[in-house]
Formats: sequence, C-alpha cells, structure tokens
Amino acid sequence: MIIQKSTSPRISSFDPENFSFGDTFIDHMFICEYDNEKWGEPRIVPYGPIGFSPAMMGVNYGQACFEGMKAYKDENDDVFLFRPEKNAKRINKSASRLAMPEVPEEIFMKGLQTLIDLDRDWIPKGEGMSLYIRPVIFATEEVLKARISNKYMFAIVATPAKSYYSAPVSVKISDHYSRAANGGVGSAKAAGNYAASFYPTKLANDEGFDQVIWTDDTAHEYFEESGTMNVFVRINDTIYTPKTSEKILDGVTRDSFLKLADKKGIKVIVGDVKVKDVVEAFDNGTLKEVWGVGTAVVTSVFKALGYQDRLLNLPILSETESFALSLKKDLTDIQTNKAEDTFGWRM
Ligand code: COI
Repeated sequence: MIIQKSTSPRISSFDPENFSFGDTFIDHMFICEYDNEKWGEPRIVPYGPIGFSPAMMGVNYGQACFEGMKAYKDENDDVFLFRPEKNAKRINKSASRLAMPEVPEEIFMKGLQTLIDLDRDWIPKGEGMSLYIRPVIFATEEVLKARISNKYMFAIVATPAKSYYSAPVSVKISDHYSRAANGGVGSAKAAGNYAASFYPTKLANDEGFDQVIWTDDTAHEYFEESGTMNVFVRINDTIYTPKTSEKILDGVTRDSFLKLADKKGIKVIVGDVKVKDVVEAFDNGTLKEVWGVGTAVVTSVFKALGYQDRLLNLPILSETESFALSLKKDLTDIQTNKAEDTFGWRM
C-alpha cells in the first residue's frame, strides 16, 4: 500500500469538544481504483477532493453504494472497530446488486485498519464519542451510455462523531411513499435509496416530523424501516422488528440488538410489523416504545408517531424502564470496551 502523508495535517486544530459531525474530516483517506477488470494499488492520501467529470457514471446513473461503521477509543486509548467484517461483506452485497465489482476483503480491512491507525488521534473518546467511517464505492467511467461502468473507485473517509439525534424524535408513518419495493435495491446500501428518501422526509419535516417510518409500497400496511435506520416496536414486554428481506437493510446494529435482547431474556419476534397492530396497541395502552437503530445514532427513541390524521404520543421511559435505552447501553458498553465482549464483536 502506498502511504502519502499529509504535509499540512489539521489534527492540532481539531477540538474534540467542539466539532460538527459529517463535515469535519480526518487528515487522510484511503482510495483504490478499479480498471481493466482489476483493483489497482491501494493508497492512503491526504483527505481532499478528487478530480472527476460531470459525465462520471456514478453521478449520472447512481452506481454507488456505501457503508457506515465506527471506531471507538477506550480510556486507555486503545482503539476498537465494531464487527467490521459485517460491513466488508455487506458492501459487496450492495455492490453485486448494483452490478459493481466486489472489493476483496483484504483490501477493505487493510485499508480500514491502516487509515484508522494513521489517524487514530482523530478518534474522540468519552461518552457517545467515536469516529464514523464511510467506505464508499462509485462508478468513475466517463461515458453517458446507460450500462455497467468499467471503472470504479473504492474510498474510505471518516469524520469524528458524537451521538446525534439522541433527543426523542417524532416520526410520520408513511401512507404514500416507500423506500423500497420487491425486486428493488432496498437491502443494498445504495446511494440512490437515500436520495429517494429526502423528498418524502422533507414533506414530513414540513408537517413537523423529524423522520419517516417507511411502509411497504403496496398498501402501506407494514413497517419496514425508519429514517435511515431499522425499526423496533415494543408491545407489552415483547419486541417486534421486521425481518430482513430484499426491501430491508440487514443492519449491524439491528443484528446486535437482537442478540443482546436474546441474551437479556427479552422476547423478540422478527416478522411482519403491522401498522394496524401498532395503532391498536397504542389505543389499548400496550404500546410501550418505538425506536430506530443504526450505526450513526445507535438508537433514536420516538416520542410520537404521526398516522394519517392522528398523533400518537408515546411515553418517555427512563433508562431502567426502556428496552431501547438499556439495549443501547449494553451495546455501547461493548463497543467502547466498558463491558466484556462475550460475542467477540470488538476488533
Ligand atoms: C447509519 O446509521 O449508519 C446510517 O446509515 C446513517 C447515515 C446515512 C448517516
């Protein structure tokens, strides 16, 4: 791997007490280009713009997919990645669905580890702090024919993160828009899935909601995801979450929550989550919690659900009462090396 270190690093002016998520970037990035049916020499270079033409296929036809993952620093300054092999596999599942070449797992892992090690000073430590890592693959061939690109770039960039949207949010249960369809790309972390979600999310924002709960594209009868996250519902003391399918992302946080809930002895049902059943549970007082889970925020607790012309206000539970918050704590304690890693998730 070629490593070209920055001659003007910004780390000395990085204030871990005062930064904004998503637009503060670490000093370096990893890149590897694909051409002539093979991946080239991996490189670490100073973070910055890459030259491309507006005719680039990734821009015109949306052949692009990404991952979200995190690195954590414990109180001894040891650095941990969380289940990175899941992201290495999933980016290739997304790439295959978008007719893009897979990235060999050793290029992914070596690039990731070398980059994180080089820029480890950028990983903030303390409650809720982490480094959010964004591996991305996109088509770089400059041609306007609508066909599979012959050239790609695999890049990894990273931004320091505090827990964000942690305040309880209100969400609108979609009765018109969907993020995925049978036979579509919902289970891929395709860039276009996010683009397609922005307009319905804006409409929900205009109505005073923070996010959308995505429902199926036919009769909008079933919960699928929420915002950019997987969704969980608690009725009495049972947790329900939709099963993964070609419409639903196989979230790493979702999978970790399921395993942690099982370990705690919480009853979990993975299957259809009907909007009608959730509304009915609200009406009879058995709906206790609804929340989203994803890498970026870990857990986003919902304080209200908008459904058609109704607003269902949910109780705000304490950490001891809330399954969402206690599972979040179990997970973040493992991620940050405060708890024993019985699942072997830290790396
Ligand atoms: C995640 O939770 O990892 C996401 O996908 C959110 C990201 C789009 C900011």
